[in-house]
Amino acid sequence: MFYSDELIEEVRLRNDIVDVISGYVKLQRKGSSYFGLCPFHNEKSPSFSVSPQKQMYYCFGCGAGGNVFTFIRQYENYSFPEALKLLADRAGITLPEEDESAENRRRRDLRTAVLEVNKMAGKYYYYLLRTEQGARAMAYLKDRGLTDETIRSFGLGYAGRYSDQLSRYLKQQGVSDSLLKESGLVQISEKQGMYDKFWNRVMFPIMDVNSRVIGFGGRVMGDAKPKYLNSPETVIFDKGRNLYGLHAARSSRKKYMLVCEGYMDVIAMHQAGFTNAVASLGTALTAQHASLLKRYTNEVILTYDSDEAGVRAALRAIPLLREAGIMTRVLHMEPYKDPDEFIKALGKETFQERIDQAQNSFLFEISVLEKSYNMEDPEGKTRFCREAARRIADFEQEIERENYIEAVAAKYQVSFEGLRKMVMSWLLQGAFVRKKPVRREDAPKKDEGIRKSERLLLSWLLEYPRLYPAVSSRIAPEDFSDGLYRKVAELLYRQLESGQTNTAWIVDQFEDPEEQKAIAEIFNTEVRVGSVKETEKAVLESMRKVMQNAVEEKGRRLDPSDIAGLQELIAAKRKIQELNGLHISL
Ligand code: UTP
Ligand code: MN
Repeated sequence: MFYSDELIEEVRLRNDIVDVISGYVKLQRKGSSYFGLCPFHNEKSPSFSVSPQKQMYYCFGCGAGGNVFTFIRQYENYSFPEALKLLADRAGITLPEEDESAENRRRRDLRTAVLEVNKMAGKYYYYLLRTEQGARAMAYLKDRGLTDETIRSFGLGYAGRYSDQLSRYLKQQGVSDSLLKESGLVQISEKQGMYDKFWNRVMFPIMDVNSRVIGFGGRVMGDAKPKYLNSPETVIFDKGRNLYGLHAARSSRKKYMLVCEGYMDVIAMHQAGFTNAVASLGTALTAQHASLLKRYTNEVILTYDSDEAGVRAALRAIPLLREAGIMTRVLHMEPYKDPDEFIKALGKETFQERIDQAQNSFLFEISVLEKSYNMEDPEGKTRFCREAARRIADFEQEIERENYIEAVAAKYQVSFEGLRKMVMSWLLQGAFVRKKPVRREDAPKKDEGIRKSERLLLSWLLEYPRLYPAVSSRIAPEDFSDGLYRKVAELLYRQLESGQTNTAWIVDQFEDPEEQKAIAEIFNTEVRVGSVKETEKAVLESMRKVMQNAVEEKGRRLDPSDIAGLQELIAAKRKIQELNGLHISL
């Protein structure tokens, strides 16, 4: 759906950012801004600021920032249209009806209907658990150490004793046969006709990030097989894209997430206070899971089972997480099988210790590797070292390689120099068959100093529009080194030209929340560096740096035979010298 800029602007204007954010965060006025505890990272003293003038927020602690749309997208994990809808509703603005295709509408209506059926089923299971019929299930859960509060907060239930109990109930409620089939809650056989997928099982509703029930897991109360049954994939349930417990874990405000294997592990960890635990259910962790996690955290601690299957699962998950830019560590669960059993046996304090000691994922991989070599035998150990060196050579950055060479050399008692030489020889071989390109976030943060000056300059322009003629006559938007800053400069220049600035609108010209965050960073750069005189000096200094960098950049790209270009360059250099005689005043 395409919404006009006017409409988006209207929705934004009618939703004052301080009002909106106050609904989520307790804010206190301090000077011209409001401050509160940042909802996007864990902190004790407020570094989260909201500016009514700029209609933007920015956290000086974690760098989260943007306008009112960014906030809702980030907080609710909404797409832009979803955020727009929420804020339009809030302001009483009706959005134009989506002009969608009949097929799209059918699918959307079906999803809504299946969600509704799941909700009804969840409530029914929840209710049954508390009846006479559910007494055994309730006793089972209690016996596994779950408190009433935990049972309630995870919405646990019981599927009823009879194999048509749920479908009978739902039909009574007016749910059609075809909808029942779509929901995956029934199965069809030639002999029996339609019957329930789950019966006589303890039920675990699976929720998406917005706490909507999208499927179920059901456990037998004894040793029968299969132990767990799960909803099949439906129009709303995609196992590869959902993580059990994420709806709660996303707001745990911990720096890292705990990833485990099963329902009971998630629940046991939450009950013990580790509310940042999630599980990929009945499937291996996928790349989509990894990028879902990346939205909420940069660090994962794998708390998989200690058995061989758990180790294999960890070895598969680590590269996917690494690829998504997540730092991973592996928790040592021995001598227990899984987090549930561990916490029951040794308690949450000891579990926390294991979290703190969790092993770096690369060293974990190396320690698994070690097991397939005979380390007593010099040849076995040499072959192990060669393989370890090959893997170390995969790290892009020298400092990283050095650190791992040091760690591996120390742990397996081999010489640092010897291992380093092996790594070098792999690197030389690799230089001819180089693999994947460097990812953007790995690229060295080039010229952060210049970017800082550019941010300052843009921020000053916003604060002191009087600077505009002096700056714009010397620095064009193209002169900014960073692509994003170039675009921001262009938009801000245009606004300053017309005499009216609107930073929240600038934010809306970018779709990517990362870019919106970067813009919030620009406009929240601390602009007062001391007295007025000192600030004026700092402005000139920043102008000089930006101009200098632009000239150097042009020089680098200049074709030596381009006489006109050369003359321009000389003129630009002169302009930098002329700054010495310039006086600017705020
Ligand atoms: P586990 O067998 O490790 O189960 O399977 P668990 O979580 O420790 O179960 P409890 O403690 O005996 O209740 C891990 C996960 O694999 C999936 C489930 O999601 C389970 O939580 N699984 C396991 C199935 O889907 N089906 C099965 O038959 C078994
Ligand atoms: Mn278990």
